[in-house]
Amino acid sequence: MALYDLKGRDLIWLVDYTPEEIRGLIQAGLEFKRRYYAGERVIEVLRGRSVALIFEKPSTRTRVSFDVAAAQLGAHPIYLGWGELQLGRGETIADTARVLSRYVDAVVARVKRHDTLVELARYSRVPVINGLSDLVHPAQALGDYMTILEKLGRLEGVRLAFIGDGSDNVLHSLLIAGAKLGVDIVVASPEKYRPHPRILEEAYKASRESGSSIEFTEDPRKAVRGADVVYTDVWVSMGQEGVAEEKIRILKPYQVNRELMEEAGNPLFMHCLPAMRGQEVTDEVIDGRWSIVWDQAANRLHIQKATLAMLIP
Ligand code: CP
Ligand code: NVA
Repeated sequence: MALYDLKGRDLIWLVDYTPEEIRGLIQAGLEFKRRYYAGERVIEVLRGRSVALIFEKPSTRTRVSFDVAAAQLGAHPIYLGWGELQLGRGETIADTARVLSRYVDAVVARVKRHDTLVELARYSRVPVINGLSDLVHPAQALGDYMTILEKLGRLEGVRLAFIGDGSDNVLHSLLIAGAKLGVDIVVASPEKYRPHPRILEEAYKASRESGSSIEFTEDPRKAVRGADVVYTDVWVSMGQEGVAEEKIRILKPYQVNRELMEEAGNPLFMHCLPAMRGQEVTDEVIDGRWSIVWDQAANRLHIQKATLAMLIP
């Protein structure tokens, strides 16, 4: 019996989760993975339940991993593209949440504006799980820390260097969860692209409690020295197409390439994917000996199972 109970909780940005609750989710993810490879592909703890997957933006990993996770737990996943719902014709978020949550047992949503998710959660009777917003991507960060724990055997004191867009949604979630888990994070980014002030405030608060560190520099070489993990994400996130040219120009010196990896020593390379090969990372790195990106992507399935199993009442 776990010491915590996540049943009925939303998973919006992890600020309201204790370090123990986050560790509990990660441990459950590792356990689902172990059982999967021991031959237990289907563990029907959610038999007869349903999960709505509402996506306002494209997705490969999040959509498929939540869909398959629900199926492997015995639940019925329902994928709903934004334009297929009456939402696309102007029905409000609140009304949609009120109705959907009378049919299904959880709602996973990927949204353009973070506020949409907050609104969904406010009017939903069932857990709402963030499948990415413009602000954060907690499902990704949980899978990533599960992967780091699996590879390095620890999280506390691990040094993670994030190189590139310091205002990235995945970085925001790595900061919030990492600070709670005792991971030391160094971000190399231009001054212009730094985390959202609300995220920084929460991350610093958590890091003071865990004793971890958060540092910023404009020098990627300095950031990677001594790093256990070098992490990057796309320079142009979904919805930022209008500023693509400027971001690509400003972020050019932040490419993760062989030279930078060699400066670091012998770190692991991580990327949430999709990657824009040749921009934020070279083929040589993502396909090279440092890279654990395929294991990282694979773990999304198992952490998604843990999330659904622990949150759905
Ligand atoms: N990493 C991730 O969330 O990928 P998708 O956009 O394909 O879901
Ligand atoms: N920062 C990226 C993450 C994709 C998983 C985006 O928002 O497009």
